[in-house]
Amino acid sequence: MVLSARQREVREWLAERQAILLAHNYQPGEIQDVADLTGDSLGLSQAAARTEARVIVFCGVHFMAETAAILCPDKTVLLPRIDAGCYMADTITAPALRARKAELPETPVVMYVNSSAAVKAESDICCTSANAVRVVNSLSQDQVLMAPDRNLALYTQRYTSKKVFYWEGCCNIHDALSREEVLACKAVHPGAPFIAHPECRPEVLDLAEVIRSTSGMLSYVKQAPQSEFIIGTEKGIIYTLAQENPDKRFYSPSDRMLCPDMKKISLADVLTALRDMAPVVTVPEDIRVRALQAVNRMLAVPRD
Ligand code: 13P
Ligand code: SF4
Repeated sequence: MVLSARQREVREWLAERQAILLAHNYQPGEIQDVADLTGDSLGLSQAAARTEARVIVFCGVHFMAETAAILCPDKTVLLPRIDAGCYMADTITAPALRARKAELPETPVVMYVNSSAAVKAESDICCTSANAVRVVNSLSQDQVLMAPDRNLALYTQRYTSKKVFYWEGCCNIHDALSREEVLACKAVHPGAPFIAHPECRPEVLDLAEVIRSTSGMLSYVKQAPQSEFIIGTEKGIIYTLAQENPDKRFYSPSDRMLCPDMKKISLADVLTALRDMAPVVTVPEDIRVRALQAVNRMLAVPRD
C-alpha cells in the first residue's frame, strides 16, 4: 500500500511517540490504511492490553477508547476527536441502571461493551455482539437484564432458555434498517447472502442468511463460496471487506447506514493528537476497577 504524505507523517509521529494506532472496522479507509491494527471493539481493546507501546491512538468512538483505558491503566489512550460518541452508549446512564436493578433483584446485568465505563462499573459482566449468547448461557441464574441494546437482547433470547429482560436502547443506524430495504436489495442481488449485525431489528434479522459481529462478518466472507454479499451493518466495513476480498462484491441495503461519530476522526486530527498528546481518555480509578471486573468476567467465559 502506497501511503500519502500525510499518512507517512502520521507513521513518523507514531514512531516518535512509541505509539500504536488502532482503528475500528467502521473507520474511514485513509485511517484504516495507516493503522497498526483494524478490528472490532473488543479485539482492539485486547490488542491495546497486549501492546508494548506507551501510547494508544484509538480511532473509534469514546466507549472503545474508555475500554482500552480500563484494560491498560499504565498507557496513554488518545481519542483524536473527544466528541466521537455513540448514540447507543448514550441511551443508558449509571443512575438509570441502578434504578432498574432495584426493580430486578437477583438478576445479573449483562452489559454490551457499547456503554460508558460508569455503566460497566454497575454491571455484573460485559458482552460483545460476538459472544452475547455464550455470556448469557454461562451464568447460573435463570434470568438476566441485558443493556443497552434491545435488539441484541432479543437476538440473544432466541438462543437461550433464560428469561432476558432488556433495556429500551438501540443503535439508531442499525435500528433504522427496514425489511423493505433489505428485500429491495435482495431483489436486485438475488444470489447474495444477507449478513446482518445483531443490532438490527428482529424482523430484519429474520431475513438474514447469517448474523455476525463485524469481526465475524470479516471471517465469514473470507471462507464463503459466494462472490456477492449484502452487508447489514455500518458501511465503513465494506472498505475492509473489499480490501481483504478483492474478487468479491459487497452491497449496502441502505445509504443511511453511516455512523457520523465513526467518521469524525481525520488524519489531521490524528496528527494533532500525536503532536499535542491530547485529548487523553481516562477513567477514575474507583470506576475503572469495577468496570474491569465486568470486562474480565466476560473474558473468562470459555469459548465454545
Ligand atoms: P462490533 O463490536 O461488532 O465491532 O460493533 C461495534 C459497533 O459499534 C456496532 O455498531
Ligand atoms: Fe454506536 Fe451505532 Fe455508531 Fe456503533 S454504529 S458506534 S453502536 S452509534
